[in-house]
Amino acid sequence: MSDPVLNLKGVTKSYNAGQPNEVSVLRGIDVTLAVGEVVALVAPSGAGKSTLLHIAGLLDLPDAGAVVIAGEDMTGLSDARRTAARREDVGFIYQFHHLLPEFTAAENIVLPQLAKGTARAAAETRAQALLAEVGIAERASHRPAALSGGEQQRVAFCRALANAPKLLLADEPTGNLDPATSDQVFEALMALVRSTGLSALIATHNLDLAARMDRQIRLDAGLIVPV
Ligand SMILES: Nc1ncnc2c1ncn2[C@@H]1O[C@H](COP(=O)(O)OP(=O)(O)OP(=O)(O)O)[C@@H](O)[C@H]1O
Ligand SMILES: [Mg+2]
Repeated sequence: MSDPVLNLKGVTKSYNAGQPNEVSVLRGIDVTLAVGEVVALVAPSGAGKSTLLHIAGLLDLPDAGAVVIAGEDMTGLSDARRTAARREDVGFIYQFHHLLPEFTAAENIVLPQLAKGTARAAAETRAQALLAEVGIAERASHRPAALSGGEQQRVAFCRALANAPKLLLADEPTGNLDPATSDQVFEALMALVRSTGLSALIATHNLDLAARMDRQIRLDAGLIVPV
């Protein structure tokens, strides 16, 4: 058996610890994602979905507990090692695309590959192939402002997968789109994830989309509860 792609063990997180306005958001979270598993994270607004994803994606640190990615315990890594692990092992997708406005769609997918040390020609080939997979190859030279919301989000998916991560984390990836576009863009994301055998944890308010994933986990009062 290969190691789980993601293992959160007893993760806790509070904001404003020790102050009157302390909020205890995560109170001991255990999550395991097997290789190739796509899991929906459902919870009401403010329950801590983004907090959990940021900790799993090494963008934020837990107060206690461990974050293990593909068998490697990320707890206690130096900032430099954590940044490298984030760049190489994790793809992150936000509700809003966060593409760099002054660069084209293709360049937005090339840049993270250059940061990892990939040669430019190989990075450009990969960017073009990813754009083709999500159905927008002909938009490669457009800047984000010249793309529709659905197209922007497809580019953001390609960027998240640019460095062939082990784990994909998505925070309401279709939350900004109208229902019909959201459906199509979600299907494009699922096709991309399935074709690469990636493991993904995807936060969503949309129970219909959640039902199309392998499994759902629910966050309530700081704990994972049965769905
Ligand atoms: N930097 C911060 N400082 C203080 N409190 C915070 C901070 N970030 C988040 N919180 C609080 O933590 C709780 C969880 O926030 P989080 O953003 O993780 O929720 P969420 O489930 O992603 O919500 P949404 O569905 O609205 O995106 C909220 O009560 C929020 O106000
Ligand atoms: Mg959120």
